Amino acid sequence: MNKGLYAGSFDPMTCGHMDLIKRAAKICDELTIGIIENPSKQPMFTTDERQDMIRKACKDIPNLKVDSFCGLLADYVNTNQFTLVFRGLRSSMDFEYELTMAQMNARLYEDKVETVFLMTDPKYSFISSSMAKEVFTLGGSIEGLVPEIVLKTMENRR
Ligand code: PNS
Repeated sequence: MNKGLYAGSFDPMTCGHMDLIKRAAKICDELTIGIIENPSKQPMFTTDERQDMIRKACKDIPNLKVDSFCGLLADYVNTNQFTLVFRGLRSSMDFEYELTMAQMNARLYEDKVETVFLMTDPKYSFISSSMAKEVFTLGGSIEGLVPEIVLKTMENRR
């Protein structure tokens, strides 16, 4: 059984994340979205809010679980016996960072864990959570860049 993990901040989840989740869920038997809890960062959404938005946006994906973790990704992966760790690649800038992270993690993973890179659909390649938050905060439209439920949650904060 292939147990996949897609980990990240998801603050908030974007349409790029959503596309990757749908594609990754087809490749593994069970896919977990692992939301990192980083005490040194001040997120826009609490972990519970992020979990809730992902659950709602992904309600039609049957083999999906949503979880959160803190600390080292490799510890979470090894403890939960994930076999595939998915990452999205938007550009060569992502590649440089992701390569070193995957190589470091490979040292820390126990056997049978592979990092799998999926190329972002070009229509989402410019989207990031941080840019979506910035544009939204400054009054710009982010419709179509984040799932409906995320947009509604953000608009309710205005
Ligand atoms: O949302 P992001 O920024 O793409 O998520 C990056 C994340 C959370 C996957 C990465 O920062 C991470 O793995 N953090 C956990 C701490 C860790 O394991 N650091 C060593 C990485 S080699």
